[in-house]
Amino acid sequence: MINRWRSIYGVTFRARPFSLVCLIFFLSACGSPSAVDVIKPPAEAAIASADPLATAAGEMTLAAGGNAFDAAVAVSAALAVVEPASSGLGGGGFFLLHDAATGRQIFLDARETAPAAATTGMYLDSDGEPLPRATYTGPLAAGIPGLPAALVHISENYGRLPLSVSLAPAIELAEAGFIATPRMLLGLKFRRTAYDISPAFKEVFIPDNTLPVAGDIIRQPDLGRTLRRLAAQGFDGFYLGETAALLIAGVQEAGGIWTAPDLANYRVVERPPLVFNYRGMRVITAPPPSSGGVVLATVFNILAGYDLDSLSSADQAHINIEAMRRAYRDRAEYLGDPDQIVMPLTRLLSDGYAAELRASIDMDLATPSASLRPVFSDGSQGSDTTHFSILDAEGNRVAATQSINTWYGAAFMPAGTGVILNNEMDDFSIKPGAPNSFGLVGAGANSVAPNRRMLSSMSPTFLESSDGIAILGSPGGSRIITQVALAAQAWIEGASASEMVNLKRYHQQYLPDTVVYESGALSSEVVAELITRGHDLTESRRPYGNMNVVTWNYLSGDVEAATDPRGEGEARVY
Ligand code: DON
Repeated sequence: MINRWRSIYGVTFRARPFSLVCLIFFLSACGSPSAVDVIKPPAEAAIASADPLATAAGEMTLAAGGNAFDAAVAVSAALAVVEPASSGLGGGGFFLLHDAATGRQIFLDARETAPAAATTGMYLDSDGEPLPRATYTGPLAAGIPGLPAALVHISENYGRLPLSVSLAPAIELAEAGFIATPRMLLGLKFRRTAYDISPAFKEVFIPDNTLPVAGDIIRQPDLGRTLRRLAAQGFDGFYLGETAALLIAGVQEAGGIWTAPDLANYRVVERPPLVFNYRGMRVITAPPPSSGGVVLATVFNILAGYDLDSLSSADQAHINIEAMRRAYRDRAEYLGDPDQIVMPLTRLLSDGYAAELRASIDMDLATPSASLRPVFSDGSQGSDTTHFSILDAEGNRVAATQSINTWYGAAFMPAGTGVILNNEMDDFSIKPGAPNSFGLVGAGANSVAPNRRMLSSMSPTFLESSDGIAILGSPGGSRIITQVALAAQAWIEGASASEMVNLKRYHQQYLPDTVVYESGALSSEVVAELITRGHDLTESRRPYGNMNVVTWNYLSGDVEAATDPRGEGEARVY
Protein backbone atom coordinates (compact mmCIF):
# COMPACT_ATOMS: atom_id res chain seq x y z
CA MET A 1 0.00 0.00 0.00
CA ILE A 2 2.65 2.49 1.04
CA ASN A 3 4.63 1.67 -2.14
CA ARG A 4 1.84 2.85 -4.38
CA TRP A 5 1.55 6.17 -2.57
CA ARG A 6 4.44 8.42 -3.65
CA SER A 7 5.73 11.33 -1.42
CA ILE A 8 3.62 11.61 1.77
CA TYR A 9 3.21 7.93 1.67
CA GLY A 10 6.83 7.45 2.46
CA VAL A 11 5.79 8.27 6.01
CA THR A 12 3.83 5.67 7.89
CA PHE A 13 1.16 7.07 10.08
CA ARG A 14 -0.77 5.81 13.01
CA ALA A 15 -4.27 6.73 14.05
CA ARG A 16 -4.22 8.71 17.25
CA PRO A 17 -6.88 8.12 19.87
CA PHE A 18 -10.17 9.81 19.17
CA SER A 19 -11.76 12.21 21.59
CA LEU A 20 -14.87 10.41 22.65
CA VAL A 21 -17.19 13.37 22.40
CA CYS A 22 -20.15 11.14 22.56
CA LEU A 23 -20.40 8.80 25.51
CA ILE A 24 -23.71 7.36 24.56
CA PHE A 25 -25.56 7.37 21.35
CA PHE A 26 -28.81 6.06 20.13
CA LEU A 27 -29.74 3.68 17.41
CA SER A 28 -32.20 5.55 15.32
CA ALA A 29 -35.05 5.10 12.96
CA CYS A 30 -35.26 7.01 9.73
CA GLY A 31 -34.61 10.70 10.15
CA SER A 32 -35.29 11.22 13.83
CA PRO A 33 -33.58 9.65 16.82
CA SER A 34 -35.49 7.01 18.70
CA ALA A 35 -33.75 5.53 21.70
CA VAL A 36 -33.64 1.82 21.17
CA ASP A 37 -30.65 1.02 23.22
CA VAL A 38 -27.78 2.74 24.94
CA ILE A 39 -24.54 1.46 23.57
CA LYS A 40 -20.94 2.41 24.17
CA PRO A 41 -19.19 3.72 21.07
CA PRO A 42 -16.92 1.22 19.31
CA ALA A 43 -13.35 1.36 20.52
CA GLU A 44 -12.15 1.10 16.94
CA ALA A 45 -12.70 2.74 13.60
CA ALA A 46 -12.80 0.82 10.33
CA ILE A 47 -12.68 1.56 6.62
CA ALA A 48 -13.26 -0.81 3.72
CA SER A 49 -12.80 0.57 0.21
CA ALA A 50 -11.94 -0.64 -3.26
CA ASP A 51 -8.38 0.71 -3.20
CA PRO A 52 -5.66 0.61 -0.52
CA LEU A 53 -4.70 4.21 -1.29
CA ALA A 54 -8.24 5.39 -0.69
CA THR A 55 -8.45 3.42 2.56
CA ALA A 56 -5.16 5.03 3.58
CA ALA A 57 -6.50 8.50 2.70
CA GLY A 58 -9.40 7.86 5.07
CA GLU A 59 -7.06 6.60 7.76
CA MET A 60 -4.92 9.74 7.49
CA THR A 61 -8.01 11.88 7.81
CA LEU A 62 -9.15 10.06 10.94
CA ALA A 63 -5.63 10.37 12.32
CA ALA A 64 -5.77 14.12 11.69
CA GLY A 65 -8.79 14.36 14.00
CA GLY A 66 -11.50 13.91 11.40
CA ASN A 67 -14.67 11.94 11.90
CA ALA A 68 -16.22 9.32 9.59
CA PHE A 69 -17.68 12.07 7.41
CA ASP A 70 -14.31 13.76 6.85
CA ALA A 71 -12.88 10.30 6.15
CA ALA A 72 -15.68 9.69 3.64
CA VAL A 73 -14.74 12.88 1.79
CA ALA A 74 -11.10 11.78 1.73
CA VAL A 75 -11.87 8.23 0.60
CA SER A 76 -14.37 9.37 -2.02
CA ALA A 77 -11.98 11.93 -3.52
CA ALA A 78 -9.04 9.50 -3.42
CA LEU A 79 -11.11 6.88 -5.25
CA ALA A 80 -11.91 9.55 -7.83
CA VAL A 81 -8.17 9.73 -8.51
CA VAL A 82 -6.89 6.17 -8.15
CA GLU A 83 -9.92 4.30 -9.50
CA PRO A 84 -10.65 6.45 -12.54
CA ALA A 85 -12.53 3.68 -14.31
CA SER A 86 -15.13 3.57 -11.59
CA SER A 87 -16.08 6.93 -10.16
CA GLY A 88 -14.93 10.50 -10.03
CA LEU A 89 -15.65 14.21 -9.96
CA GLY A 90 -17.40 13.80 -13.30
CA GLY A 91 -19.94 11.40 -11.77
CA GLY A 92 -22.28 11.06 -8.85
CA GLY A 93 -23.20 8.85 -5.95
CA PHE A 94 -25.25 8.20 -2.86
CA PHE A 95 -24.01 8.64 0.71
CA LEU A 96 -25.87 7.05 3.60
CA LEU A 97 -24.86 8.77 6.84
CA HIS A 98 -25.45 7.91 10.49
CA ASP A 99 -24.69 10.72 12.90
CA ALA A 100 -23.99 9.09 16.25
CA ALA A 101 -24.46 12.26 18.29
CA THR A 102 -28.04 12.83 17.16
CA GLY A 103 -28.98 9.40 15.84
CA ARG A 104 -30.02 11.03 12.56
CA GLN A 105 -29.72 8.95 9.40
CA ILE A 106 -29.50 10.80 6.14
CA PHE A 107 -29.45 9.68 2.54
CA LEU A 108 -27.47 12.20 0.53
CA ASP A 109 -28.52 12.05 -3.11
CA ALA A 110 -25.69 13.25 -5.35
CA ARG A 111 -27.09 11.59 -8.45
CA GLU A 112 -26.38 13.21 -11.80
CA THR A 113 -29.19 15.14 -13.49
CA ALA A 114 -30.07 15.31 -17.17
CA PRO A 115 -29.05 18.65 -18.69
CA ALA A 116 -31.92 21.13 -19.12
CA ALA A 117 -31.75 20.69 -22.90
CA ALA A 118 -32.27 16.90 -22.69
CA THR A 119 -35.33 15.52 -24.45
CA THR A 120 -37.17 12.22 -24.28
CA GLY A 121 -36.25 11.16 -27.80
CA MET A 122 -32.69 12.45 -27.86
CA TYR A 123 -31.15 8.99 -28.18
CA LEU A 124 -33.52 7.73 -30.90
CA ASP A 125 -33.16 7.91 -34.68
CA SER A 126 -35.82 9.23 -37.04
CA ASP A 127 -37.56 5.84 -36.96
CA GLY A 128 -37.74 5.99 -33.18
CA GLU A 129 -35.07 3.30 -32.75
CA PRO A 130 -32.20 3.65 -30.22
CA LEU A 131 -29.08 5.19 -31.78
CA PRO A 132 -26.28 2.65 -31.23
CA ARG A 133 -24.11 3.45 -28.21
CA ALA A 134 -25.46 7.01 -28.00
CA THR A 135 -25.65 6.89 -24.22
CA TYR A 136 -22.26 5.26 -23.89
CA THR A 137 -19.40 7.41 -25.17
CA GLY A 138 -18.81 11.15 -25.44
CA PRO A 139 -20.39 14.18 -23.77
CA LEU A 140 -23.98 13.50 -24.87
CA ALA A 141 -23.88 10.45 -22.60
CA ALA A 142 -23.09 12.51 -19.51
CA GLY A 143 -25.38 13.85 -16.83
CA ILE A 144 -24.49 16.87 -14.69
CA PRO A 145 -22.07 15.62 -12.02
CA GLY A 146 -23.07 15.43 -8.36
CA LEU A 147 -20.01 14.07 -6.58
CA PRO A 148 -18.14 17.38 -6.10
CA ALA A 149 -21.26 18.94 -4.53
CA ALA A 150 -21.57 15.93 -2.22
CA LEU A 151 -17.99 16.30 -0.98
CA VAL A 152 -18.59 19.95 -0.17
CA HIS A 153 -21.96 19.27 1.47
CA ILE A 154 -20.67 16.46 3.67
CA SER A 155 -17.60 18.40 4.72
CA GLU A 156 -19.54 21.59 5.52
CA ASN A 157 -22.47 19.97 7.28
CA TYR A 158 -21.09 16.87 8.98
CA GLY A 159 -17.30 17.03 8.96
CA ARG A 160 -14.95 18.44 11.53
CA LEU A 161 -12.00 19.30 9.28
CA PRO A 162 -11.75 21.89 6.50
CA LEU A 163 -12.39 20.54 3.01
CA SER A 164 -8.81 21.42 2.10
CA VAL A 165 -7.54 18.92 4.70
CA SER A 166 -9.91 16.13 3.66
CA LEU A 167 -9.04 16.63 -0.01
CA ALA A 168 -5.28 16.81 0.57
CA PRO A 169 -4.58 13.09 0.03
CA ALA A 170 -6.52 13.09 -3.26
CA ILE A 171 -4.66 16.16 -4.46
CA GLU A 172 -1.36 14.52 -3.58
CA LEU A 173 -2.34 11.34 -5.43
CA ALA A 174 -3.40 13.28 -8.53
CA GLU A 175 -0.25 15.38 -8.66
CA ALA A 176 2.45 12.98 -7.47
CA GLY A 177 0.81 10.03 -9.14
CA PHE A 178 0.00 6.46 -8.24
CA ILE A 179 0.94 3.11 -9.67
CA ALA A 180 -1.47 1.73 -12.25
CA THR A 181 -3.31 -1.38 -11.10
CA PRO A 182 -4.22 -4.40 -13.24
CA ARG A 183 -7.88 -3.53 -12.87
CA MET A 184 -7.59 0.00 -14.22
CA LEU A 185 -5.50 -1.31 -17.13
CA LEU A 186 -8.11 -3.92 -17.93
CA GLY A 187 -10.70 -1.12 -18.09
CA LEU A 188 -8.50 0.91 -20.44
CA LYS A 189 -8.17 -2.05 -22.79
CA PHE A 190 -11.89 -2.57 -22.64
CA ARG A 191 -12.59 1.03 -23.72
CA ARG A 192 -9.89 1.11 -26.42
CA THR A 193 -12.29 2.08 -29.22
CA ALA A 194 -13.38 5.20 -27.32
CA TYR A 195 -10.10 7.00 -26.71
CA ASP A 196 -9.90 8.98 -29.92
CA ILE A 197 -12.85 11.17 -29.14
CA SER A 198 -11.03 12.78 -26.22
CA PRO A 199 -7.42 13.99 -26.60
CA ALA A 200 -7.28 15.07 -22.93
CA PHE A 201 -8.35 11.59 -21.79
CA LYS A 202 -5.77 10.06 -24.08
CA GLU A 203 -3.00 12.31 -22.83
CA VAL A 204 -3.48 11.12 -19.25
CA PHE A 205 -4.24 7.46 -19.76
CA ILE A 206 -2.69 6.50 -23.11
CA PRO A 207 0.25 8.88 -23.47
CA ASP A 208 2.11 8.56 -26.80
CA ASN A 209 -0.66 6.26 -27.93
CA THR A 210 0.68 3.52 -25.66
CA LEU A 211 -1.32 1.72 -23.03
CA PRO A 212 0.34 1.89 -19.64
CA VAL A 213 1.57 -1.34 -18.11
CA ALA A 214 1.33 -2.49 -14.51
CA GLY A 215 3.75 -0.47 -12.43
CA ASP A 216 3.58 2.71 -14.53
CA ILE A 217 2.89 5.92 -12.62
CA ILE A 218 -0.32 7.72 -13.55
CA ARG A 219 -0.22 11.47 -12.91
CA GLN A 220 -3.26 13.72 -13.32
CA PRO A 221 -2.07 17.34 -12.95
CA ASP A 222 -5.25 18.88 -14.37
CA LEU A 223 -7.33 16.85 -11.95
CA GLY A 224 -5.04 18.05 -9.15
CA ARG A 225 -5.77 21.67 -10.13
CA THR A 226 -9.51 20.97 -10.31
CA LEU A 227 -9.38 19.40 -6.83
CA ARG A 228 -7.42 22.39 -5.53
CA ARG A 229 -10.10 24.80 -6.81
CA LEU A 230 -12.76 22.63 -5.15
CA ALA A 231 -10.78 22.57 -1.89
CA ALA A 232 -10.31 26.34 -1.90
CA GLN A 233 -13.72 27.52 -3.12
CA GLY A 234 -16.14 24.72 -2.29
CA PHE A 235 -19.19 24.42 -4.56
CA ASP A 236 -18.21 27.49 -6.59
CA GLY A 237 -14.80 25.96 -7.26
CA PHE A 238 -16.39 23.31 -9.48
CA TYR A 239 -19.83 24.49 -10.56
CA LEU A 240 -18.90 28.14 -11.27
CA GLY A 241 -15.73 29.88 -12.38
CA GLU A 242 -12.75 28.30 -14.13
CA THR A 243 -13.62 24.63 -13.73
CA ALA A 244 -17.18 25.18 -14.91
CA ALA A 245 -15.99 27.23 -17.89
CA LEU A 246 -13.54 24.49 -18.93
CA LEU A 247 -16.20 21.79 -18.54
CA ILE A 248 -18.78 23.67 -20.59
CA ALA A 249 -16.29 24.61 -23.32
CA GLY A 250 -15.07 21.01 -23.63
CA VAL A 251 -18.56 19.52 -23.68
CA GLN A 252 -19.97 22.01 -26.18
CA GLU A 253 -16.99 21.79 -28.55
CA ALA A 254 -17.53 18.04 -28.74
CA GLY A 255 -21.25 18.35 -29.46
CA GLY A 256 -22.63 18.09 -25.92
CA ILE A 257 -25.59 20.06 -24.60
CA TRP A 258 -24.48 21.16 -21.12
CA THR A 259 -24.83 24.85 -20.31
CA ALA A 260 -23.40 26.95 -17.50
CA PRO A 261 -26.79 27.10 -15.66
CA ASP A 262 -26.89 23.27 -15.65
CA LEU A 263 -23.79 23.30 -13.47
CA ALA A 264 -24.68 26.38 -11.42
CA ASN A 265 -28.13 24.98 -10.61
CA TYR A 266 -26.99 21.48 -9.60
CA ARG A 267 -27.94 20.62 -6.01
CA VAL A 268 -27.50 17.54 -3.83
CA VAL A 269 -30.66 16.49 -1.98
CA GLU A 270 -30.95 15.12 1.57
CA ARG A 271 -33.69 12.51 1.63
CA PRO A 272 -35.00 10.25 4.38
CA PRO A 273 -33.53 6.76 3.87
CA LEU A 274 -35.89 3.94 3.05
CA VAL A 275 -36.33 1.78 6.17
CA PHE A 276 -37.96 -1.63 6.61
CA ASN A 277 -37.72 -4.59 8.95
CA TYR A 278 -37.08 -8.25 8.25
CA ARG A 279 -36.76 -10.96 10.89
CA GLY A 280 -35.47 -8.68 13.63
CA MET A 281 -33.18 -6.80 11.27
CA ARG A 282 -33.76 -3.16 10.40
CA VAL A 283 -32.60 -2.29 6.88
CA ILE A 284 -31.75 1.38 6.27
CA THR A 285 -31.14 1.88 2.59
CA ALA A 286 -31.48 3.87 -0.59
CA PRO A 287 -34.80 5.52 -1.56
CA PRO A 288 -35.56 6.73 -5.12
CA PRO A 289 -33.91 7.87 -7.31
CA SER A 290 -32.26 4.60 -6.40
CA SER A 291 -34.36 1.56 -7.04
CA GLY A 292 -32.31 -0.29 -4.43
CA GLY A 293 -34.48 0.23 -1.37
CA VAL A 294 -37.79 -0.49 -3.05
CA VAL A 295 -36.46 -3.65 -4.73
CA LEU A 296 -34.84 -4.83 -1.49
CA ALA A 297 -38.02 -4.17 0.51
CA THR A 298 -40.13 -6.00 -2.06
CA VAL A 299 -37.82 -9.02 -1.99
CA PHE A 300 -37.70 -9.14 1.82
CA ASN A 301 -41.44 -8.51 2.24
CA ILE A 302 -42.07 -11.52 -0.02
CA LEU A 303 -39.50 -13.67 1.82
CA ALA A 304 -41.07 -12.73 5.18
CA GLY A 305 -44.07 -14.92 4.38
CA TYR A 306 -42.02 -18.12 4.22
CA ASP A 307 -40.38 -20.19 6.93
CA LEU A 308 -37.15 -20.32 4.96
CA ASP A 309 -35.25 -22.36 7.56
CA SER A 310 -37.63 -25.26 7.07
CA LEU A 311 -37.18 -25.26 3.28
CA SER A 312 -34.61 -26.97 1.05
CA SER A 313 -31.78 -24.97 -0.56
CA ALA A 314 -33.52 -25.30 -3.93
CA ASP A 315 -36.76 -23.94 -2.48
CA GLN A 316 -34.92 -21.04 -0.86
CA ALA A 317 -33.17 -20.15 -4.12
CA HIS A 318 -36.43 -20.52 -6.06
CA ILE A 319 -38.27 -18.13 -3.73
CA ASN A 320 -35.44 -15.61 -3.85
CA ILE A 321 -35.34 -15.73 -7.64
CA GLU A 322 -39.11 -15.32 -7.94
CA ALA A 323 -39.05 -12.43 -5.46
CA MET A 324 -36.21 -10.73 -7.41
CA ARG A 325 -38.10 -11.19 -10.69
CA ARG A 326 -41.22 -9.49 -9.33
CA ALA A 327 -39.34 -6.68 -7.62
CA TYR A 328 -37.36 -5.85 -10.79
CA ARG A 329 -40.57 -5.93 -12.85
CA ASP A 330 -42.03 -3.23 -10.63
CA ARG A 331 -38.75 -1.32 -10.79
CA ALA A 332 -39.14 -1.18 -14.57
CA GLU A 333 -42.70 0.12 -14.40
CA TYR A 334 -42.87 2.48 -11.47
CA LEU A 335 -39.56 3.88 -10.31
CA GLY A 336 -37.86 7.12 -11.26
CA ASP A 337 -36.87 10.54 -9.97
CA PRO A 338 -38.97 11.28 -6.87
CA ASP A 339 -38.88 14.99 -7.66
CA GLN A 340 -40.55 14.45 -11.04
CA ILE A 341 -42.50 11.19 -10.85
CA VAL A 342 -45.39 10.05 -8.67
CA MET A 343 -44.63 6.52 -7.46
CA PRO A 344 -47.07 4.18 -5.67
CA LEU A 345 -44.55 3.58 -2.89
CA THR A 346 -47.06 3.03 -0.10
CA ARG A 347 -48.63 0.19 -2.04
CA LEU A 348 -45.33 -1.26 -3.30
CA LEU A 349 -43.95 -1.38 0.25
CA SER A 350 -47.09 -2.74 1.91
CA ASP A 351 -47.50 -6.20 3.42
CA GLY A 352 -50.71 -6.63 1.46
CA TYR A 353 -48.91 -6.14 -1.83
CA ALA A 354 -46.17 -8.56 -0.78
CA ALA A 355 -48.87 -11.12 0.02
CA GLU A 356 -50.33 -10.64 -3.49
CA LEU A 357 -46.93 -11.17 -5.08
CA ARG A 358 -46.27 -14.19 -2.88
CA ALA A 359 -49.57 -15.74 -3.88
CA SER A 360 -48.48 -15.56 -7.52
CA ILE A 361 -45.37 -17.71 -6.86
CA ASP A 362 -45.66 -21.38 -7.81
CA MET A 363 -43.24 -23.42 -5.71
CA ASP A 364 -42.89 -26.04 -8.43
CA LEU A 365 -42.51 -23.83 -11.49
CA ALA A 366 -40.58 -20.72 -12.52
CA THR A 367 -42.86 -17.86 -13.56
CA PRO A 368 -41.85 -16.77 -17.07
CA SER A 369 -41.15 -13.03 -16.89
CA ALA A 370 -43.17 -12.60 -20.08
CA SER A 371 -46.24 -13.89 -18.24
CA LEU A 372 -46.11 -11.03 -15.71
CA ARG A 373 -48.17 -7.92 -16.45
CA PRO A 374 -46.28 -6.09 -19.19
CA VAL A 375 -44.49 -2.88 -18.34
CA PHE A 376 -44.26 -1.12 -21.66
CA SER A 377 -47.83 -0.21 -22.56
CA ASP A 378 -47.00 3.53 -22.32
CA GLY A 379 -45.22 3.56 -25.13
CA SER A 380 -19.34 -6.62 -17.41
CA GLN A 381 -20.65 -6.08 -14.63
CA GLY A 382 -19.27 -5.16 -11.28
CA SER A 383 -15.96 -3.71 -12.36
CA ASP A 384 -16.85 -0.07 -12.39
CA THR A 385 -18.60 2.06 -9.77
CA THR A 386 -17.25 1.76 -6.25
CA HIS A 387 -18.53 1.35 -2.73
CA PHE A 388 -16.90 2.11 0.62
CA SER A 389 -17.98 1.65 4.22
CA ILE A 390 -16.72 3.60 7.24
CA LEU A 391 -17.30 3.41 10.99
CA ASP A 392 -15.51 5.80 13.33
CA ALA A 393 -14.78 5.28 17.01
CA GLU A 394 -17.70 7.54 17.95
CA GLY A 395 -20.15 5.33 16.10
CA ASN A 396 -20.64 7.61 13.07
CA ARG A 397 -21.14 5.60 9.91
CA VAL A 398 -20.97 6.12 6.18
CA ALA A 399 -22.03 3.76 3.40
CA ALA A 400 -21.30 5.32 0.01
CA THR A 401 -21.62 4.09 -3.54
CA GLN A 402 -20.33 6.39 -6.27
CA SER A 403 -20.02 5.97 -10.00
CA ILE A 404 -19.37 7.30 -13.45
CA ASN A 405 -21.37 4.25 -14.65
CA THR A 406 -19.53 1.87 -17.00
CA TRP A 407 -15.70 1.58 -17.33
CA TYR A 408 -14.26 5.12 -17.61
CA GLY A 409 -17.77 6.53 -17.97
CA ALA A 410 -18.17 8.41 -21.24
CA ALA A 411 -14.37 8.10 -21.77
CA PHE A 412 -14.47 11.84 -22.34
CA MET A 413 -12.45 14.46 -20.50
CA PRO A 414 -13.02 18.17 -21.20
CA ALA A 415 -9.57 19.67 -21.81
CA GLY A 416 -7.89 21.23 -18.80
CA THR A 417 -10.16 19.62 -16.18
CA GLY A 418 -8.79 16.12 -15.64
CA VAL A 419 -12.43 15.15 -15.08
CA ILE A 420 -13.76 12.02 -16.80
CA LEU A 421 -17.43 12.51 -17.56
CA ASN A 422 -19.97 9.89 -16.58
CA ASN A 423 -22.24 8.02 -18.99
CA GLU A 424 -25.14 7.79 -16.55
CA MET A 425 -27.65 8.95 -19.20
CA ASP A 426 -27.60 5.23 -20.06
CA ASP A 427 -29.44 4.58 -16.80
CA PHE A 428 -32.52 6.29 -18.23
CA SER A 429 -34.99 4.25 -20.23
CA ILE A 430 -34.33 5.84 -23.62
CA LYS A 431 -37.25 3.95 -25.14
CA PRO A 432 -39.84 1.78 -23.38
CA GLY A 433 -38.54 -1.76 -23.33
CA ALA A 434 -35.11 -1.00 -24.82
CA PRO A 435 -32.47 -2.56 -22.51
CA ASN A 436 -29.62 -0.42 -21.22
CA SER A 437 -26.01 -1.53 -20.65
CA PHE A 438 -27.12 -3.69 -17.74
CA GLY A 439 -30.03 -5.21 -19.65
CA LEU A 440 -32.45 -3.20 -17.53
CA VAL A 441 -35.69 -2.10 -19.12
CA GLY A 442 -38.02 0.71 -18.13
CA ALA A 443 -40.70 2.98 -19.37
CA GLY A 444 -42.15 6.45 -18.82
CA ALA A 445 -41.29 6.74 -15.13
CA ASN A 446 -37.61 6.67 -16.05
CA SER A 447 -37.71 8.37 -19.44
CA VAL A 448 -35.21 11.12 -20.31
CA ALA A 449 -36.47 14.55 -19.23
CA PRO A 450 -34.83 17.89 -18.46
CA ASN A 451 -33.12 18.09 -15.05
CA ARG A 452 -34.34 14.60 -14.13
CA ARG A 453 -32.26 12.17 -12.06
CA MET A 454 -31.87 8.81 -13.83
CA LEU A 455 -32.96 5.73 -11.89
CA SER A 456 -30.10 3.96 -10.13
CA SER A 457 -29.47 0.59 -8.53
CA MET A 458 -26.78 1.84 -6.16
CA SER A 459 -27.75 0.70 -2.67
CA PRO A 460 -25.56 1.86 0.20
CA THR A 461 -27.12 0.15 3.21
CA PHE A 462 -27.00 -0.17 6.99
CA LEU A 463 -28.29 -3.30 8.68
CA GLU A 464 -29.16 -3.02 12.35
CA SER A 465 -30.18 -5.61 14.91
CA SER A 466 -30.12 -5.82 18.68
CA ASP A 467 -26.64 -7.39 18.37
CA GLY A 468 -24.92 -4.92 16.08
CA ILE A 469 -24.73 -3.24 12.73
CA ALA A 470 -23.36 -3.80 9.23
CA ILE A 471 -22.40 -1.12 6.70
CA LEU A 472 -22.39 -2.43 3.14
CA GLY A 473 -22.81 -1.91 -0.58
CA SER A 474 -21.23 -2.84 -3.89
CA PRO A 475 -20.90 -1.89 -7.54
CA GLY A 476 -22.41 -4.15 -10.19
CA GLY A 477 -25.07 -2.17 -12.05
CA SER A 478 -28.39 -3.97 -11.89
CA ARG A 479 -26.79 -6.72 -9.80
CA ILE A 480 -26.01 -4.37 -6.91
CA ILE A 481 -29.39 -4.84 -5.28
CA THR A 482 -29.38 -8.63 -5.30
CA GLN A 483 -25.82 -8.65 -3.92
CA VAL A 484 -27.02 -6.55 -1.00
CA ALA A 485 -30.12 -8.74 -0.58
CA LEU A 486 -28.07 -11.94 -0.37
CA ALA A 487 -25.46 -10.38 1.94
CA ALA A 488 -28.21 -9.08 4.25
CA GLN A 489 -29.80 -12.52 4.41
CA ALA A 490 -26.40 -13.97 5.29
CA TRP A 491 -25.80 -11.32 7.98
CA ILE A 492 -29.07 -12.04 9.73
CA GLU A 493 -28.02 -15.70 9.74
CA GLY A 494 -24.79 -14.71 11.52
CA ALA A 495 -22.34 -14.16 8.64
CA SER A 496 -19.25 -12.06 9.37
CA ALA A 497 -18.07 -9.17 7.20
CA SER A 498 -15.61 -11.41 5.38
CA GLU A 499 -18.25 -14.07 4.82
CA MET A 500 -20.54 -11.41 3.35
CA VAL A 501 -17.98 -10.22 0.80
CA ASN A 502 -16.97 -13.79 -0.05
CA LEU A 503 -20.53 -15.00 -0.54
CA LYS A 504 -21.18 -16.35 -4.05
CA ARG A 505 -23.95 -14.46 -5.83
CA TYR A 506 -26.95 -15.09 -8.04
CA HIS A 507 -29.32 -12.67 -9.68
CA GLN A 508 -32.62 -12.38 -11.53
CA GLN A 509 -33.81 -9.02 -12.91
CA TYR A 510 -37.12 -9.81 -14.68
CA LEU A 511 -35.66 -9.26 -18.15
CA PRO A 512 -33.67 -10.90 -19.57
CA ASP A 513 -35.51 -13.88 -18.11
CA THR A 514 -32.48 -15.74 -16.80
CA VAL A 515 -30.79 -16.39 -13.47
CA VAL A 516 -27.14 -15.32 -13.61
CA TYR A 517 -25.00 -17.04 -11.00
CA GLU A 518 -21.36 -17.10 -10.02
CA SER A 519 -19.60 -20.40 -10.13
CA GLY A 520 -20.33 -22.12 -6.82
CA ALA A 521 -23.29 -19.91 -5.86
CA LEU A 522 -25.73 -22.75 -6.43
CA SER A 523 -24.82 -26.39 -5.93
CA SER A 524 -25.17 -28.71 -8.92
CA GLU A 525 -28.20 -30.29 -7.21
CA VAL A 526 -29.87 -26.89 -6.80
CA VAL A 527 -29.05 -25.96 -10.40
CA ALA A 528 -30.59 -29.22 -11.60
CA GLU A 529 -33.69 -28.68 -9.46
CA LEU A 530 -34.13 -25.09 -10.64
CA ILE A 531 -33.86 -26.21 -14.27
CA THR A 532 -36.51 -28.84 -13.60
CA ARG A 533 -38.77 -26.06 -12.32
CA GLY A 534 -38.31 -24.17 -15.58
CA HIS A 535 -35.68 -21.59 -14.66
CA ASP A 536 -33.21 -20.50 -17.29
CA LEU A 537 -29.75 -20.38 -15.67
CA THR A 538 -26.59 -18.70 -16.94
CA GLU A 539 -23.29 -19.20 -15.17
CA SER A 540 -21.50 -15.87 -15.10
CA ARG A 541 -18.29 -15.93 -17.12
CA ARG A 542 -16.60 -13.92 -14.36
CA PRO A 543 -17.24 -13.24 -10.71
CA TYR A 544 -19.02 -9.93 -10.24
CA GLY A 545 -19.32 -7.20 -7.62
CA ASN A 546 -16.79 -5.51 -5.36
CA MET A 547 -18.46 -5.33 -1.96
CA ASN A 548 -17.01 -3.50 1.03
CA VAL A 549 -18.40 -4.22 4.48
CA VAL A 550 -17.81 -3.00 8.03
CA THR A 551 -19.55 -4.73 10.93
CA TRP A 552 -19.68 -3.91 14.61
CA ASN A 553 -20.98 -6.36 17.17
CA TYR A 554 -22.33 -4.52 20.22
CA LEU A 555 -22.11 -7.59 22.43
CA SER A 556 -18.50 -8.54 21.81
CA GLY A 557 -17.37 -5.04 20.81
CA ASP A 558 -15.75 -6.56 17.72
CA VAL A 559 -15.34 -4.34 14.68
CA GLU A 560 -14.58 -6.14 11.42
CA ALA A 561 -13.87 -4.72 7.97
CA ALA A 562 -13.75 -6.79 4.80
CA THR A 563 -13.15 -6.10 1.15
CA ASP A 564 -14.30 -8.23 -1.74
CA PRO A 565 -11.74 -10.85 -2.85
CA ARG A 566 -12.90 -10.13 -6.42
CA GLY A 567 -11.41 -6.62 -6.24
CA GLU A 568 -8.20 -4.81 -5.30
CA GLY A 569 -9.45 -3.12 -2.15
CA GLU A 570 -8.25 -2.90 1.41
CA ALA A 571 -10.19 -3.12 4.65
CA ARG A 572 -8.65 -1.94 7.90
CA VAL A 573 -9.61 -1.66 11.54
CA TYR A 574 -7.75 1.04 13.50
O1 DON B 1 -26.55 3.89 -10.83
C1 DON B 1 -26.50 2.75 -11.29
O2 DON B 1 -27.30 1.88 -11.01
C2 DON B 1 -25.37 2.41 -12.24
N1 DON B 1 -24.93 3.59 -12.92
C3 DON B 1 -24.28 1.74 -11.48
C4 DON B 1 -23.20 1.27 -12.41
C5 DON B 1 -22.35 0.22 -11.83
O3 DON B 1 -22.52 -0.25 -10.74
C6 DON B 1 -21.28 -0.26 -12.73
N2 DON B 1 -20.57 -1.34 -12.14
N3 DON B 1 -20.53 -2.40 -12.55
